[in-house]
Amino acid sequence: MASERRIVVLISGSGSNLQALLDAVSDGRLGQARITQVISNRKAAFGLERARKAGVPTAVLSMKTWLGRNAGKTREDYDEVLAGAVLAGASGRSQEWLDAQGAQGQQLVQQDTAAPTKPDLVVLAGFMHIVSPRFLQVVGNTPCINLHPALPGAFDGIEAIKRAHDAFQEGKLKDGKTGVMVHEVVAEVDRGRPIVVQEVECIEGQSLEDLEGRIHEVEHRIIVEAAGKILSERS
Ligand code: GRF
Repeated sequence: MASERRIVVLISGSGSNLQALLDAVSDGRLGQARITQVISNRKAAFGLERARKAGVPTAVLSMKTWLGRNAGKTREDYDEVLAGAVLAGASGRSQEWLDAQGAQGQQLVQQDTAAPTKPDLVVLAGFMHIVSPRFLQVVGNTPCINLHPALPGAFDGIEAIKRAHDAFQEGKLKDGKTGVMVHEVVAEVDRGRPIVVQEVECIEGQSLEDLEGRIHEVEHRIIVEAAGKILSERS
């Protein structure tokens, strides 16, 4: 990877997958890439603390709060502003800047869809919000990937690990395997082109916590592998 690559990461929670990316950047496993912005839709997300510790600009853009401040606006309007914040994130923005722009949304989008710098990669890392087609339209041809703790088409949506564990307990899990994937984000939830897929064997008598622990270890590895793959495709 010759020139610098800019990554924007979206989170909602503990940010252990964000941490895996931060660690990979700091020890050079992602070449010249750096995380220029972390955006959370939940202000309590511990991942924001991880970003701050790493000196990465953070911003919170909660849909509930934004809709409350912008009566009459819709989920799609929020997604448009979120996408605008993601594009602007290539330059690392403060909460104050975002709040000043984000109130109207469209300004942010117009201003930044023409922005000279756009991220080279957007990573949804434990991001608990389903982005709409409007989000993807604004993000345009900037690659956007999502981590999902299941195999392609197996357990789309929430609580995928628990659902796989329950299916295994009931003897209904195909080949006794679940897994983790990173895929390209498309309008249909968890259905984009898989970029990296890793199977995880379920073990008789394992607890859900055991399985979650093994799944998270795989997540932390393949999210870095997938980011590296996409970035090298763009070099
Ligand atoms: C992960 O299993 C992720 O796939 C899911 O949320 C969990 C926690 O992610 N969406 P993180 O620790 O916030 O990265």
